[in-house]
Amino acid sequence: WASSVSKVDGVLTVAGESVTDLAAEFGTPTYVVDEDDFRRRARAFKDAFPSADVYYAGKAFLCVATARWIAEEGLNLDVCTGGELAVALKAEFPPERIGLHGNNKSVAELRRALEVGVGRIIIDSIEEIARLRDLTAELGVTAPVMIRVTAGVEAHTHEYISTSHEDQKFGFSITGGDALDAVRRVLAEPGLELRGLHSHIGSQIFVTDGFEVAARRVLRLHADIEKELGVALPEFDLGGGFGIAYTTQDDPSTPEDLARGMLKIVDDECAAMGIDVPHLSIEPGRAIAGPSTFTLYEVGTTKSVALDGGASRRYISVDGGMSDNIRPALYGADYSCTLASRTSDAPALLSRVVGKHCESGDIVVKDEFLPGDVEAGDLLAVPGTGAYCRSLASNYNHVPRAAVVAVRDGEARVILRRETEDDLLALDIG
Ligand code: LLP
Repeated sequence: WASSVSKVDGVLTVAGESVTDLAAEFGTPTYVVDEDDFRRRARAFKDAFPSADVYYAGKAFLCVATARWIAEEGLNLDVCTGGELAVALKAEFPPERIGLHGNNKSVAELRRALEVGVGRIIIDSIEEIARLRDLTAELGVTAPVMIRVTAGVEAHTHEYISTSHEDQKFGFSITGGDALDAVRRVLAEPGLELRGLHSHIGSQIFVTDGFEVAARRVLRLHADIEKELGVALPEFDLGGGFGIAYTTQDDPSTPEDLARGMLKIVDDECAAMGIDVPHLSIEPGRAIAGPSTFTLYEVGTTKSVALDGGASRRYISVDGGMSDNIRPALYGADYSCTLASRTSDAPALLSRVVGKHCESGDIVVKDEFLPGDVEAGDLLAVPGTGAYCRSLASNYNHVPRAAVVAVRDGEARVILRRETEDDLLALDIG
């Protein structure tokens, strides 16, 4: 839960606002963001890594308001498409503090990035080198670039969000020699200014060894480049991926823990190889946005199902589901939830919170013990939905996407409005 969330007489409140008031004013489902919590987590990374640049990974959740918060807290911003770049520019995020990612950036996306003067472009393919050579020549600019490498680390997370083993689409392989080859090609282009190497091993990672192994491998390549090619690259980036607690089973590291481990490895490794420590950057997304937000739903229907062995399960259907949080269906992600609008003395029953979509896999919270008298009209809150929920939201079954409301000092405001049926129908030109 975000830090300002507590229960007052059974009613969940965030930054002084009750969820019953929020639901009455903004409707449900709604993503409710504790703005101070979001900002505090952003600052915590800045404070823990004082000598590094911290790029907030906008894919976790980006809108004009969050881009502004990030800018105000002194972080940089990682975007990975022209669309995310457009949001950043609408927020007047300083372009020199933006990094552009993507394994298949289009010429149009690269052109826009160069025209507005983004601070760095993270190269992820051979084709991109040629595209940047042509564009920099045409526009008469120099492109600051990094090269994304595959450190060959098996991150212990879901296969779909693991990005540093060899057999996946991102990055140039270090062991296969592709990374060194890409470095040579980039160094040969006068329009490209190579700032350093980049590695991102995956997402929702708890075991910090993965980051440490990746740091060592990337720094060894960094040192090889210095020795073999005579080029001391000024920077390197270790990506994001820091896990958060979705349930009480999860035990995430703090930014301070992460910094202690990672910075020591970097210092030790550079000392052992006799090279200067390059300027570090990291790219946390989930760890900043995730815990700041909960999703508020209203219960619509319920039913009980007898299970083998005499037990039973209650199905509690809410007014959202896989369109506002695809993570349980996509990654088997576990969430928790609480009855948010009142107290109840009813005995807790094994419950499954499900959505309103036409799919049995439309699960919001797989297993939770909720009071047995939860009924239509009650509000449920699911914490930890600030990252990869609104940003992965869909219109499946023509359900309009939910609003995002930010709360701070007892005041709530919509930062991303709810989609309407008219929004959806406007696209359908017959
Ligand atoms: N940097 C790069 C290059 C990335 O690809 C990502 C995430 C990040 C940073 C931020 O990672 P974070 O700190 O947020 O873990 N949709 C999935 C997560 C996909 C992550 C993609 N890249 C999920 O819901 O779990």
